[in-house]
Amino acid sequence: MTPPPPFTQPLYVTRPILPPLAEYTTLLQDVWASGWLANGGAQHHLLEAELSQWLNAPHLSLFNNGTIALIVACQALRLSGEVITSPFTFPATPHVLSWNNVTPVFADIDPDTLCIDPNQVESLVTNRTSGILGVHVYGIPCDVQALDALARTYGLRVAYDGAHAFGTQVNRRAISSYGDATMFSFHATKLFHTAEGGALAVNDPDLKKRIELLKNFGIKSENEVVMPGINGKMSELQAALGRIVLRHVGTERERRATIRTLYQTRLAHQPGLNLLQIPANATDSLQYLVLRVNAQTAGLHRDQLHERLKRFNIVTRKYFNPLCSDYSCYRQLPSANPRNLPNAYRVAAEVLTLPYFGALSDGDVHQVCDAILYSLRH
Ligand SMILES: Cc1ncc(COP(=O)(O)O)c(C=O)c1O
Repeated sequence: MTPPPPFTQPLYVTRPILPPLAEYTTLLQDVWASGWLANGGAQHHLLEAELSQWLNAPHLSLFNNGTIALIVACQALRLSGEVITSPFTFPATPHVLSWNNVTPVFADIDPDTLCIDPNQVESLVTNRTSGILGVHVYGIPCDVQALDALARTYGLRVAYDGAHAFGTQVNRRAISSYGDATMFSFHATKLFHTAEGGALAVNDPDLKKRIELLKNFGIKSENEVVMPGINGKMSELQAALGRIVLRHVGTERERRATIRTLYQTRLAHQPGLNLLQIPANATDSLQYLVLRVNAQTAGLHRDQLHERLKRFNIVTRKYFNPLCSDYSCYRQLPSANPRNLPNAYRVAAEVLTLPYFGALSDGDVHQVCDAILYSLRH
């Protein structure tokens, strides 16, 4: 096999939906005419309503990013003491607990879904536990029914980091209909984005009222500030971008579904390689395309494949390695002991996120697959 050609420009794992600029500037004319750039203007209200409908999430609040949204969720749910979470995630997940003076307690993940294992969660509940912060990693849903049942048994709150779960459904129900609060990230790396942005979806209208206060400094009226809130507001420029991007989400999802099938066809029969699958009772958010590399069977470690693909100008990502429990700020926690997290350690050494976005051509996907297969054989 002759080596496939390298890409002429670095090929990254994602590229944001960038609608024709004229669509955005048309909407910006409305923003300019309104003279209103922040603090819940017309675009904000319209996007909130459109997303509420799209996500089937009746009580939705927009935010300036997903991390602040999750910090506010912890405040709104009054999480304290200890919260059980996943070590296999982006730094923001445990950090939002630390910013709320809550100790993250890391539970091992299920080896198939890569989300926290409810049995491990149950074994970590103490009298200091106030909640569970699950992560629908890569849009694969946590075992939401088991976690909801645990919450009922032990009187816990359940928040979800659904940064990757835009459009995920479980048992034909919106992902945010499970638990108390679900955060979505609208960062530029996400399929639906507002450049920076996020949202919180909750199931209790009173909780939404509290969230609206918390995200706006706790200001209730001209003369009343009722709690120590923060600035979590999404601007009109972000909201207008979101409204334009939302029009293109359907096409992007269709293209990503086709690309997934193409990758699957090219890589499925390769020993030691597995593309992560969404469970049968869930729909795919089509956010990431993740390869698991079994070093023994593939004859090559994930790290070697990651390095070799750089020679072809393909920049893959080892999401999520290192584990959060391995960061210097969390390593000393008893729950961070690697002996308690065997599945998380194994998975973190095997996963590789591949280029995956609608603007990839079939030829690009073939070129990536050729580079992977060439790297394995040479
Ligand atoms: C799992 C997860 N949680 C939280 C975040 C943070 O979201 P944001 O960048 O919108 O603050 C991200 C990444 O963007 C993420 O991947």
